[in-house]
Amino acid sequence: MQTLPIHEYFPHASRLIYGCMALGGNWQADALSKAHVEEAKQMLDVCLDNGINMFDHADIYGHGLAEAAFGEALKSQSHLREKIIIQSKCGIRFADGKQQAVTRYDFSKEWIIQSVENSLTRLNTDYLDILFLHRPDPLMQPDEVASAFEQLKRSGKVRNFAVSNMNAHQIQLIQSEASVPVIANQIEMSLAQLNWLNEGISANQNTMASVGFNAGTIEHSRLNNIQMQSWGSLAQGLFSGREKLDESNERIRQTSALVRSLAADYQTSAEAILLAFLWRHPMKMQTVVGSSNTSRIAACSLVEAVSLSAEHWYQLYVSARGEALP
Ligand SMILES: NC(=O)c1ccc[n+]([C@@H]2O[C@H](COP(=O)([O-])OP(=O)(O)OC[C@H]3O[C@@H](n4cnc5c(N)ncnc54)[C@H](OP(=O)(O)O)[C@@H]3O)[C@@H](O)[C@H]2O)c1
Repeated sequence: MQTLPIHEYFPHASRLIYGCMALGGNWQADALSKAHVEEAKQMLDVCLDNGINMFDHADIYGHGLAEAAFGEALKSQSHLREKIIIQSKCGIRFADGKQQAVTRYDFSKEWIIQSVENSLTRLNTDYLDILFLHRPDPLMQPDEVASAFEQLKRSGKVRNFAVSNMNAHQIQLIQSEASVPVIANQIEMSLAQLNWLNEGISANQNTMASVGFNAGTIEHSRLNNIQMQSWGSLAQGLFSGREKLDESNERIRQTSALVRSLAADYQTSAEAILLAFLWRHPMKMQTVVGSSNTSRIAACSLVEAVSLSAEHWYQLYVSARGEALP
């Protein structure tokens, strides 16, 4: 059976991860309602029924309400805690209250530890399986981050540590001080966000000089057993149902048609084709899916049975990037 880098730490981790960002009212709610908790329970059940046992949170999702909804759902089924893997993130700060704007990043020891305490309270759990640093803080002091990680590890409040939206050099900087390993990196990767691939074929290509992805990040993760996780994996439906909103865009129209046709050929769902495109890459990424629609989660889980040919993979890549290969 194919194993993922993360199986070194979590032998039973599922390759699909449920993204909890929309729980608790999808940023719009002022307070937790019974309906939010019921929805979280329903999504937890649907995920487990479909073999998904990892759940992706952040302290900021819904300004805390996403974690709170999940925590309430877990309270009535506490036997589930040992069976599931919960990851959360910290390091992004909003202005006081329910402001929409991010005001700053904060990797100070005090903020990291306080954020974890708050997440644990909301999630109704004693520990996080993995804590992610959400976005790189230009003011980060690696020794301070290391000290926060080590204190959280010693106290048992966090079992493993990871990063998000970081390049290889930033990971190396953290790792140079931390005695605990960085085990994962979560970045946006999908048919709509192809910088992670375009960077790899950009050598000597003047036209691609501005690709917004740092060289060597994928290779560094592969060489160092760091689990890559994709966010935005479904491209928010751009090629699997929402393309009608942008029918005039030829690239989107053609790529959606290709996704539909491959779904028919492989006798699977459009969502499974989007995810199979990501899974076909030898870095062996995990994919976070953020749907609140139970049938879409089932459609995603069909990816387990799809193994795209290299030819089909390239057809999707070239069509979605809207430009011939160099
Ligand atoms: N590390 C980071 O910086 C970062 C940033 C953003 C997100 N994340 C994580 O990644 C997860 C997923 O992110 P995401 O929600 O941006 O990406 P996504 O999984 O690509 O998209 C999910 C969204 O797209 C909609 N969608 C998908 N297929 C659709 C279709 N055919 N028709 C209409 N709508 C469709 C879903 O609506 P339905 O609910 O109706 O299915 C949902 O709102 C989040 O929950 C979070 O855990 C991490």
